[in-house]
Amino acid sequence: MPVIALVISLIVASFAPQALAPGPEALVQEGKKLFENTCADCHRVNGQGLPDKFPALDRNPFVVGDPAKVIDTVLQGRKGKLGQMPTWKDKFNDQQVAAIITYVRQAWSNKGTAVTPEAVKNRRK
Ligand code: HEC
Repeated sequence: MPVIALVISLIVASFAPQALAPGPEALVQEGKKLFENTCADCHRVNGQGLPDKFPALDRNPFVVGDPAKVIDTVLQGRKGKLGQMPTWKDKFNDQQVAAIITYVRQAWSNKGTAVTPEAVKNRRK
């Protein structure tokens, strides 16, 4: 690689981590919109949910834990002791699901890793 290209990529790299970490900014922005238009009906815009009805997604170890389990829950929904979490597999495509999950894993006080559209695709049954 020519030296000038190396220098440029070093300069870019020195700024990039902040812009990109903890997840691709564009994905997070898209996820925020989708979350606020859809998921926030139950889980609330601030991610706190409603006591005894909808679980809080903020400060929730499940949400920032194993990405496969979070992807499965969002795609397939879940019937649990709090009630019925709807399925989203037919409403959102892989990119939208990845965006929403990346957002909830990094919103509020959460500091989880990003989820890619490929990871979502692999979990579809
Ligand atoms: C109609 C209300 C409703 C909507 C809308 C909704 N959820 Fe849920 N969600 C629930 C309920 C109820 C549960 C708990 C189910 C149970 O008892 O296990 C839940 C559980 C979850 C969990 C698992 C939490 C845990 O601690 O196990 C995640 C993650 C989640 N929802 C994410 C989302 C996302 C992302 C969206 C938007 C795409 C969304 N939810 C939209 C009602 C909703």
